[in-house]
Amino acid sequence: MRMVDLIIKKRDGHELSDEEITFWIDGYVKGEIPDYQSSAMQMAILFKGMTNREIATLTDRMEHSGEVLNLSHLKGVKVDKHSTGGVGDKTSLVLGPMVAACGATLAKMSGRGLGHTGGTLDKLESIPGVTVAIEGERFARQVNSIGCAIVGQTGSLVPADKKMYALRDVTGTVESIPLIAASVMSKKLASGSDAILLDVTVGEGAFMKNMDDARTLAHIMVDIGNRLGRNTKAVLSDMSEPLGLAVGNALEVKEAIAALHGNGPKDLMELCYTSGAIMLKQAKVVKDYEEGRAKLEEAIKSGAAFDKFVKMIEAQGGDISYILHPEKFELAKNQIEIRASQSGYVTSLNALEIGVSSMKLGGGRETLDDVIDMSAGILLNKKVGDHVDKGELLATLHTNKEPEEYKPIADDVKKAFVIVSEKVTPMPVIREIIEK
Ligand code: URA
Repeated sequence: MRMVDLIIKKRDGHELSDEEITFWIDGYVKGEIPDYQSSAMQMAILFKGMTNREIATLTDRMEHSGEVLNLSHLKGVKVDKHSTGGVGDKTSLVLGPMVAACGATLAKMSGRGLGHTGGTLDKLESIPGVTVAIEGERFARQVNSIGCAIVGQTGSLVPADKKMYALRDVTGTVESIPLIAASVMSKKLASGSDAILLDVTVGEGAFMKNMDDARTLAHIMVDIGNRLGRNTKAVLSDMSEPLGLAVGNALEVKEAIAALHGNGPKDLMELCYTSGAIMLKQAKVVKDYEEGRAKLEEAIKSGAAFDKFVKMIEAQGGDISYILHPEKFELAKNQIEIRASQSGYVTSLNALEIGVSSMKLGGGRETLDDVIDMSAGILLNKKVGDHVDKGELLATLHTNKEPEEYKPIADDVKKAFVIVSEKVTPMPVIREIIEK
């Protein structure tokens, strides 16, 4: 078999056989197939797509390109949750402790932020002392005793995805539905949970810009998961504007703490309650979503969810005084206020613009080697549907950068708010639930 023939076959719109997909992935991971041929194949897939069978085979070969975890020795039904990425998405930090407080087990492997999207591991590491490098026995002990752990993916899990994602990032092939589906599901399957809830984000700040693409991606991933014996469901959630009011690592952790006290922004709380209810049912802790939601509301009200978060952070080496007294998080030296130049209603708040601006303020990475400023980011005061008066505060930038660097960013953030005179109804955060 020759890789060039497989690239030509896909380029011309034909279906690859299981053997051909295996030849590509095995050869690429072993270093026998060079980056340039794998890139060409990924570009051909971006243009010509893949059948569901091809995507299932690609996922399976990627999953088995490295270590596959077996979590059967851990207590209970293990549920995992994965978001396809967004701006201000601190859901995992809130949801993990919430479902654990209700009796589910969350053994979660998360990723880092890149570009305009944030990553749960970076957010966790903004808490002094926290480690996400927890493996083997220590991971098992934490999950069994506390019911939740959020850690980094071990180095030996899905090496094919690491190599392929790095290539996609620099060759314009991130936005391919088959490649996203295989990337996400190979990692979820290799991480060993029994049940998976996928949060497929849709809108300006997400990879999927419209509902049709988001639905297609969600159905493909739900189908692969269920076919391979994992109870898999998906929510489609809005990412046309950022989730919640905080964007940036330490700022988002503080918002997550507020949410665990029941004081989170409405969209974040709604996403956590709906996703959590689905996860509790998947974990067989409740019989229906209504019971799940009631249990989650009680876990927030009683403080049980917050206690779980404190225990999880403590187990991962974090200084819990920051969780008990979030005012201890160091603020960036500059706070720049952005004010409205007209009265009206916010009709759009571009999540991509806000995500990119937060990154430029120091809160994110442009390349994998960039160092994040944990205190940097943006606090929003207004969201879509809100009324604003001329001169009212729209957002505050937090940054350690100098004025010549942050001034153009302040202009961009102001432009991200579009204000009109007519009343506006915001999009619901949950756009759709996909069960099978
Ligand atoms: N998240 C992933 O893990 N992989 C993708 O390809 C896109 C989002």
